[in-house]
Amino acid sequence: MATGTTAVILAAGIGKRMQSQRAKVLHEVGGKPMVCHVVHAVRQARVERIIIVAGHQYDQVQAVVGNDVEYARQTEPLGTGHALLQAAPLLGDQDGTVLVLNGDIPLLTGQDVSSFLTQHLLGEYAGSVLSARVDDATGYGRILRDESGEFLGIVEHNDASDVQRRIEEINVGVYCFDSRCLLGQLALLDRQNQQEEYYLTDVIANLRASSQAVGALPASDPLVAKGVNDRRQLAEMAAIMYRREVNRLLDEGVTILAPDTTFVDCDVEVGQDTILWPMTFLKAGTRVGHSCEIGPNTTIHKTWVGDNCRIQESVVEEGRLGNEVHVGPYAHLRPGCHLEDGVRVGNFAEVKNSSVGRGTKISHHSYIGDSEIAAGVNIGAGTVTVNYDGHHKYPTVIEEGAFIGCNANLLAPVRIGRRAYVAAGSTVEHDVPAGALAIARQRQINKENWVKGRVKGE
Ligand code: UD1
Ligand code: MG
Repeated sequence: MATGTTAVILAAGIGKRMQSQRAKVLHEVGGKPMVCHVVHAVRQARVERIIIVAGHQYDQVQAVVGNDVEYARQTEPLGTGHALLQAAPLLGDQDGTVLVLNGDIPLLTGQDVSSFLTQHLLGEYAGSVLSARVDDATGYGRILRDESGEFLGIVEHNDASDVQRRIEEINVGVYCFDSRCLLGQLALLDRQNQQEEYYLTDVIANLRASSQAVGALPASDPLVAKGVNDRRQLAEMAAIMYRREVNRLLDEGVTILAPDTTFVDCDVEVGQDTILWPMTFLKAGTRVGHSCEIGPNTTIHKTWVGDNCRIQESVVEEGRLGNEVHVGPYAHLRPGCHLEDGVRVGNFAEVKNSSVGRGTKISHHSYIGDSEIAAGVNIGAGTVTVNYDGHHKYPTVIEEGAFIGCNANLLAPVRIGRRAYVAAGSTVEHDVPAGALAIARQRQINKENWVKGRVKGE
């Protein structure tokens, strides 16, 4: 644990350049809001105390980050320096290190943070900044050095001269300060700049002017520099993140046939020897077991999938699947489904908020909603649980080994007993006792010679 270190994450900005109703730091990269990536990196670096400065959409930021961090509120977005100042009362008057991070740098890793912290402490700086060299520095603050390479300060893009804009070393937006030196300086910031904002970056030059040691410490991986200010950068970041996750799974023994069209969110787990076919989307909160085949054209959202499963051309949301379950092609498991081992859900079937017992088959064209289906049940093609009367939803219970013929309507609430049969085409209104056959349809009448004399030529 990095004792004596407090991290402050700046997440109060609006993010005008995103052209969005949503605060910038809430936009997701790899299925995770950007600010959560930064929190994750800080935690990985074993910094235990985290303060989030939130403002615009404060409640939403708090909802995604959670309550095991502290919060400071910035009521008006007057700049990064002003944002950090809002955390000063929480930082208090104590010794230690303050790590400050922008909330819009999702590719930052725990390793990047740890090594930066270590270098800062070793160098005994009053303030230091993580820097990186980039091909296109447009928009970033530039690192100013003198001829001998000594770090002088940071100039923002908008305030930089043409010569300064040619500098390729930029400020990543991650800083470390000696707590006491920082707090004295923050109160002295002004808004004498192009954007009329309190720039946190000015603290560095001010520290130096008061004869304190400052450092610009280059990152080992220039990717960390990639901040997100607009949608183009968001798209670029998402592509890098998806590639990172796919590579992680490849290294862990997952076969991915087309990495560029396979989209795996952060923290998704996939077991060995599972194959992911093209256009597979594994969304946040998903875990897939070993030896499965997933895809093509499949989306799995927040679902646990067991071993040896096959899910083809389907959508699966917020469910739990046992082992050897087959889903699809063209099936939709809506939220709340629990499928036990060996279940089959086939073509054009939709299942919602239902539990399905071991080995049960729902092979074609069915709608099963709010149901409890036991093991070994056969649901014939076109079966519909009629669960909704326009006001309320009602449950259907089907006991072990029951056989539902094709095209049956089961009017809920209804119970089909153990090993009972429902004849094809029935509309079942009442419970069916165990072992019974329910036939609920019109008897067939054949009118002999009906056609003759009615149809020309017959
Ligand atoms: C900032 C740096 C720049 C650096 C770049 C790296 C300053 C003045 N400039 O510029 O040197 O190269 O990051 O990506 O710091 N925020 C608040 N309150 C505010 C304004 C911003 O909390 O009033 C937060 C934002 O939510 C964001 C972070 O601070 O997470 C950075 O703000 P942003 O406006 O993106 O700064 P940049 O222009 O990118
Ligand atoms: Mg930014």
